[in-house]
Amino acid sequence: MSAADDAPVPASSMSAEGARADGAPVLLARDLARHYRVSRGWFAPKATVRALDGVSFELASGRTLAVVGESGCGKSTLARALTLIETPTAGELRIHGRDAADAAARRALRREVQMVFQNPYAALNPRKTIASTLAEPLVINTTLGRAERQERIEALAAKVGLRREHLQRYPHMFSGGQRQRIAIARAMVMQPGIVVADEPTSALDLSIQAQILNLFMDLQEEFGTGYVFISHNLAVVEHVADEVMVMYLGRVVEQGDKRRVFARPLHPYTQALMSATPALRPADRRQRIRIHGELPSPLKPPTGCAFHQRCPMAIPRCAEIRPELRELDGRWVACDVI
Ligand SMILES: Nc1ncnc2c1ncn2[C@@H]1O[C@H](COP(=O)(O)OP(=O)(O)OP(=O)(O)O)[C@@H](O)[C@H]1O
Ligand SMILES: [Mg+2]
Repeated sequence: MSAADDAPVPASSMSAEGARADGAPVLLARDLARHYRVSRGWFAPKATVRALDGVSFELASGRTLAVVGESGCGKSTLARALTLIETPTAGELRIHGRDAADAAARRALRREVQMVFQNPYAALNPRKTIASTLAEPLVINTTLGRAERQERIEALAAKVGLRREHLQRYPHMFSGGQRQRIAIARAMVMQPGIVVADEPTSALDLSIQAQILNLFMDLQEEFGTGYVFISHNLAVVEHVADEVMVMYLGRVVEQGDKRRVFARPLHPYTQALMSATPALRPADRRQRIRIHGELPSPLKPPTGCAFHQRCPMAIPRCAEIRPELRELDGRWVACDVI
């Protein structure tokens, strides 16, 4: 049986409290993959980067799936696939139960998945006032009149902590934290079912980060939005997530309920990530687990388990057989040694 046949959809998200009345997830990914063909020079044959290589999950409304992993593990590639910016090369993506591969549905579905980026300045048009940036989706997608639009925008601005007079200003007149508030408002204007946030606080001062995280959580409570929250910061993940997905070289190594994974990470890679975050290392936890060596090139991933060369627990068979995700202690883990 191929990996595709039995790739799991974690059960923990299926009966989430925030599920819609019909129980269907707002977002479903099954074996989602995005490969890139890249040139390696004038005469070399093209190579394939398996940036995202078979990821599955379900997200219920009002819940947060956090995606963690080192730089280059495929987090932003996943974000671009989920927000329909890029088409997956394989796998299934369903938004509100509708197949995102269906060209006729895509336009409407695009509105349902909004993205918040790491750098809010790049996401905002410098020549537009905040009012017109926030009004734009309403002008394009709704029949609301001017006064109604203004009302919606002012209400939303207040929710994200902007004052009325801010609406007539331009992006450069704001601080980084305020700009991220504006970008979040922009993502929320159409009340999408899903927001994908790619490192939305990493560029901000530490003191501002918590405010922005709390804003995300308040808006989720109010609108019931499902979040896919990408971060390399495990302290952030612990704060916001319901479910966690740990990625390594385009694949999931551990996935499941946040409390379970944080209380007892099972995959050696998850353990190493967590032990490198001092705040998450209670006194009784084992010593810091060091990962040796560099992240392998995605152009030439190792055989067997992609992590085996750096893994403190690796045995010879890890170099030969790629572990599939299996259920263990209430979550999914791709390791055959533990
Ligand atoms: N358009 C592209 N063409 C070729 N390779 C790409 C493309 N986009 C991404 N990649 C490669 O895919 C892999 C995953 O990249 P991605 O940006 O998704 O990682 P990431 O987890 O978001 O990293 P970071 O934490 O640095 O943002 C990397 O090896 C990257 O070089
Ligand atoms: Mg990225």
